[in-house]
Amino acid sequence: MAKSTTRWVCSECDASLSGWFGKCPTCGAWNTIEERTTSELPSDRVVLSNSATAPVSVEAAVQDAPRRTTGLAEVDRVLGGGLVTGSVVLLGGPPGIGKSTLLLQVGAGIAARHGNVLYASGEESVAQIAGRAQRLSADASRLLVLAETRIESILDAARELALVGELATVVVDSIQTVYSIGTEGLPGNVSQIRAAAAQLVSFAKLHGVPVVLVGHVTKDGQLAGPRVLEHLVDTVLGFDGDEDRALRLLRASKNRFGSTMELGVFEMGSTGLREIGNPSETFLAERPEGAAGSCITASLEGSRPLLLEVQALLAPASGGARRNCVGVDPARLAMILAVLDRHAGLGVLDHDVFVNVAGGLRLFEPAVDLAIALAVASSHLRRPVVADLVALGEIGLTGEVRQAPRLELRLAEAQRLGFRRAVVAGRGDHRQALPGLEITTARSVEAALEAGLAASAASSGRRRGLR
Ligand SMILES: Nc1ncnc2c1ncn2[C@@H]1O[C@H](COP(=O)(O)OP(=O)(O)OP(=O)(O)O)[C@@H](O)[C@H]1O
Ligand SMILES: [Mg+2]
Repeated sequence: MAKSTTRWVCSECDASLSGWFGKCPTCGAWNTIEERTTSELPSDRVVLSNSATAPVSVEAAVQDAPRRTTGLAEVDRVLGGGLVTGSVVLLGGPPGIGKSTLLLQVGAGIAARHGNVLYASGEESVAQIAGRAQRLSADASRLLVLAETRIESILDAARELALVGELATVVVDSIQTVYSIGTEGLPGNVSQIRAAAAQLVSFAKLHGVPVVLVGHVTKDGQLAGPRVLEHLVDTVLGFDGDEDRALRLLRASKNRFGSTMELGVFEMGSTGLREIGNPSETFLAERPEGAAGSCITASLEGSRPLLLEVQALLAPASGGARRNCVGVDPARLAMILAVLDRHAGLGVLDHDVFVNVAGGLRLFEPAVDLAIALAVASSHLRRPVVADLVALGEIGLTGEVRQAPRLELRLAEAQRLGFRRAVVAGRGDHRQALPGLEITTARSVEAALEAGLAASAASSGRRRGLR
């Protein structure tokens, strides 16, 4: 029989205390200590394997096909090649971004390939989920839907299917709406999230069935609930995007079975999420031709090079100069402005500077420095960047340009998309030629600007020229 114990728990941070306190000694919150009677249910404990009592050789434990492909190549790549058997994945994202849509599509894809998928929702009714599946034209024949918030009932249904070998994946939408009868508190509170997640992890490991959880995020973009949730699961995925556009991005912030560098790109439409296999083309689709203040670069997202547009706008500052960055590191921009001022003779420091990466992406690798510098200089001098040019290189404090890692991969993507010129770091050494791509090397920022900016000014009267 389950044993009952009384303890005092902070409802903010879930700290367990010996008695009541007005202020939680762990997190400092006031009036959050509650008395709880807990039944110590064995299901709260995490069981990792049903055969772990005796050691086994790694060779014997290696499985032939430990991954389940989802049918969405973008999701599979971010996961590291599909869902690993017995793993637990947490998918976080802001409200309405498309988490349920993505998981319904993933669920249908797995069901079509590997067997039954149990989609348990505590947020929507069976009719609502069925309506969405219809809108997405998802193959629903092996997609089993359960509108339930009690974790024990969800796991009973899952266990029944798993025991007859007919369960390929479980989806729980969302971890904040389910609760365990053995734990006190409302769904979404720290101990409920922890208890439900622990039972799901235990189920996944015991039956070798992957479990995918949806997690809400707070206003500041953090996953709601205890931090321990992220430690408990194998993979944490983040789904976000530009609110004004249909673009959606999937990334892993933790992955026990793959890289965290990969990026999955989708477009939300009335029939669901469409994979964008060629994101460079999408990001460059609305690029202005011949406009000052725009430069293309190739950023590496995991194994995939992405061509992106960096935009800059400079205006004389009235009062303190402002720096406004979207998708670019403000500290990096400050450094680039200082280098342009000192080593290229551009008086940019007394200007308001706005920098934006088109498409809502973040460019935090130093290899994009040169493109930022070119976009800034182009706006300042009102000279467009040379047509069909990509800029690649890191800028140093002495004004030198350093080579971008995996340059050949980036150049090959630029050439594939029809770019005809590239400015990269170097001393004019001969590079392996890519047909149709003329490569100019520059050792300094000043030389790179000379090579990268078009000679003709958009408005010649205001042309200032380099030093
Ligand atoms: N009929 C429709 N046509 C086009 N897009 C739609 C339609 N219905 C929903 N959407 C898109 O799907 C999004 C909602 O998707 P979904 O419900 O999967 O999001 P979610 O992240 O699960 O939201 P929540 O946090 O509320 O659970 C909407 O914001 C909208 O962009
Ligand atoms: Mg949802």
